[in-house]
Amino acid sequence: MNDPEITQFLIVDIPTSRDEEEAWFDKQKDRANGKIFAIVTLDGNRHIGNIGLHTIDHKHGTATTGTVIGEKDYWGKGYGTDAKMVLMNYAFNVLNLRRLTSEVIAFNGRSANYAQKCGYVLEGTLRQHVYVNGAYHDAFVFGALKEE
Ligand SMILES: CC(C)(COP(=O)(O)OP(=O)(O)OC[C@H]1O[C@@H](n2cnc3c(N)ncnc32)[C@H](O)[C@@H]1OP(=O)(O)O)[C@@H](O)C(=O)NCCC(=O)NCCS
Repeated sequence: MNDPEITQFLIVDIPTSRDEEEAWFDKQKDRANGKIFAIVTLDGNRHIGNIGLHTIDHKHGTATTGTVIGEKDYWGKGYGTDAKMVLMNYAFNVLNLRRLTSEVIAFNGRSANYAQKCGYVLEGTLRQHVYVNGAYHDAFVFGALKEE
């Protein structure tokens, strides 16, 4: 999570030290409105990333989603899609949420394709929403409804 090639794509604050990483990890179990899951290889031997539901709102039936595969050798091999299908099934059919959204920085073409492959549609653009690598960038909002 300290690799700029990865973190340039992430909107959230990133832990920068081992202590901060461990504090972040310990905090996850107490989160009432979010769940983070590990993405592991099919043989179960390697933890390659995380996928999460955030800001879960049971009244409105909404949540945001985010994925990061930190082991770059595993990009483009279907792990992200597989993990998102499991997460969407959990969100829609276990938690009974009805709407998921995800924000993607405009230059992250891979993630925009990934969102659409998983059934999200482009809903709008947040102009100059994030500051990354010395410049402001738009972010796209993608959304998926349960009935879709
Ligand atoms: C974005 C990310 C989660 C996608 O997961 P992944 O396992 O690499 O993606 P998949 O192999 O499941 O591919 C899903 C789709 O993404 C798109 N995609 C994958 N690699 C791509 C590439 N190099 N260029 C463009 N699109 C690409 C394709 O549409 C692909 O579908 P297809 O194989 O049918 O063509 C992962 O690459 C990642 O963690 N990247 C770094 C962090 C990040 O950007 N997170 C998202 C922040 S919003």
